[in-house]
This record gives sequence, structure tokens and C-alpha cells, in this order.
Amino acid sequence: MTRLAVVGATGAVGSVMLEQLRERSFPAEEIVAFASARSAGRELDGGLVVQGLTDEAIHGFDLAIFSAGAAASREWAPRFARAGTVVVDNSSAWRMHDDVPLVVSEVNPYDLAWHDGIVANPNCSTMQMVVALKPLHDTAGIERLVVSTYQSVSGTGMKAIDELRRQARAVLDGEPLGEPRVYAHPIAFNVLPHAGSFADGDDHTDEERKLMSETRKILGDDAIRVSATCVRVPVFFGHSEAVNVQTRRPLEPGEARDLLAAAPGVTVLDDPASGLYPIATAAAAVNAPPGQHAPNASARRGRAAAATIDATDA
Ligand SMILES: NC(=O)c1ccc[n+]([C@@H]2O[C@H](COP(=O)([O-])OP(=O)(O)OC[C@H]3O[C@@H](n4cnc5c(N)ncnc54)[C@H](OP(=O)(O)O)[C@@H]3O)[C@@H](O)[C@H]2O)c1
Repeated sequence: MTRLAVVGATGAVGSVMLEQLRERSFPAEEIVAFASARSAGRELDGGLVVQGLTDEAIHGFDLAIFSAGAAASREWAPRFARAGTVVVDNSSAWRMHDDVPLVVSEVNPYDLAWHDGIVANPNCSTMQMVVALKPLHDTAGIERLVVSTYQSVSGTGMKAIDELRRQARAVLDGEPLGEPRVYAHPIAFNVLPHAGSFADGDDHTDEERKLMSETRKILGDDAIRVSATCVRVPVFFGHSEAVNVQTRRPLEPGEARDLLAAAPGVTVLDDPASGLYPIATAAAAVNAPPGQHAPNASARRGRAAAATIDATDA
């Protein structure tokens, strides 16, 4: 019997987590929804009543799934862990800590063996990409990746979903857009080469840095070179990516396609002339379980393949 805490239950990710737990009939004796003190007492779809985090409230859980931002994870994940709970954290707070495994279930489940109370999962664009890269890396070794993302606003949370909806309505109604609140520029009918934020002196965003470092950690190979450009597009749900893969050993396109088709969590959609390729709305609308991805491997030359990957980012 499992007692499960969902921390960040009112958020874009937390609400999908609760939905998925319900849909999959997750075998928990009790699920408790936590969010900030602002939401304490609020009743969620499905009837759970949100609780605020307190030292008394966090005892007696087997598992806590965190999706409440890095600051809340830094503060509360160690407290849950000290109380004997295994924390699975969705934020960036613990991902690159040497004593915290960064795990994607289809890629490196064996890293769960060495956790010490906290298990991290990666940034959304990294997570969907490594599922497709794993079989290619195991077979031919990845030398270099050139990644361009087309990321939906859902990755920035509820406030960004609201901003796209509000701005799109204003544009269509011929109303003034008002000042952007979430992004540096309007996102409606626009493309922003600015997913995440720029640290002082760095021309890459933190989102691009995460894609580089987290990919190496999950695949267990610091030698993989990664070039990343992360772009925010006016799509509500579903990140797309174009990934150019250079392998260490020759890999024929047909072999790459077969490897992808056989990989857990991967669906190959590859008949472009007939309009069959991954698209964000289809990946999100089918309500695919997390980890179900749709790469489209199309051949380039002997040692390189291009793949587009679509997945629901939550
Ligand atoms: N790995 C992935 O695939 C992936 C994808 C997207 C996002 N994320 C990460 O998941 C996290 C949440 O993202 P989101 O898009 O769901 O954000 P969001 O829609 O803004 O939701 C944030 C959630 O955290 C709660 N929260 C905020 N501060 C808190 C605090 N001090 N104590 C307790 N709860 C607090 C909020 O509660 P209130 O409603 O009460 O404010 C809300 O439930 C972020 O760290 C984000 O980077 C991961």
C-alpha cells in the first residue's frame, strides 16, 4: 500500500500528473495534493483538497512527486527524504547533483539503484529526446547532436498558457495586446529564440544548457558534443524537436529506423510525402502517456540521421 504526495498539484504539470494517476489507477492507498499556501483548501477536479506544505503534513508518505519549481524542491524535497519518503523531482533543483540520479525510465532505470532519497527527472525537451537517442547511442555511439526545439508554452506553466490564449484572442479581435507578462515579447503568432533565461555573459539560455548537460548525464557519456537552440512557439501543448545526430560508428538509415521502431516509448511516423510525421497537436491530443514519443527518422548520410520528435511535455 502506498501513500503518495503530489507537490505542485495545481500547476500545469501537477494537474496532468493527477489526471494520469487517476487514468492509470495508480495503486495508492491515498493521494495527497500539495501546493503553495495560496491554494490551501482549494478543491481540485477529482475531489482532492489542496494542502499547504508543513513539517507535520509531510510525514508518512512512501513517494512524493514534486513539480512545484526549483525553489520549493530545494526547500522541501530533502525534508520529505529525511522523513523516509522517496522524492521524484521534476524541477531543475537536483538534476546535476552528483549524488542524485537523473532518470528516464526507458533509458537508464538502473540509475535508480543508487538514489539516496531523491531522484530527479530531466527537463522536458531533454527527456523526450533521450528516449529516441538511447538505442542509437547503444548501437553506434553518439558523437555530436545539433538540436533545434520548437517548444510549446505549456513548458512555462499555467501563466504562459493563459498568456498565449489572451494574446491570440486580442490579435484576432483587433484589440491591443498589452505588455507581455511571461515572455520578453508577444508569443501569439510569433517565434521566440529565447526558451528559458540567459545568465549573465552566456549566449545560451539555461534551457539550452540543460539540454547539453542533462543529455550527457542520462546517457552516461561526457564526451557527447551538443549544440542546442531552444525556441518557444505559439503551441499550447507538445514540444517538437529537430535533432541531427552524428554517430561514432557508421549507422545505415534503415538500421536507425529499425532501432527506433523497436525502442520502448518510441513510435516511428515516417511517410512524409503522405503527411505522416510527428506533429505537436497529435502528440498532445492523443493524450499519450508520458514517455510515448514519435520520432521520425529520415536518412541523411551514412553517419548521420535527422529525427523530429514530438511529445506531450508533461
Ligand atoms: N520535466 C518536465 O517534463 C517538466 C515540464 C514542465 C515543467 N517542469 C517543471 O515542473 C515545475 C512546475 O512547472 P509547471 O509548469 O507545472 O508550473 P506552474 O503551472 O506554474 O505550477 C507550479 C506549481 O507549484 C506550486 N508551488 C509554487 N511555489 C510553491 C511553494 N513554495 N510550495 C509549494 N508549492 C508551490 C504552485 O502552487 P500554487 O498554484 O498554489 O501557486 C503550482 O501547483 C517547474 O519546476 C518546471 O520547471 C518539468
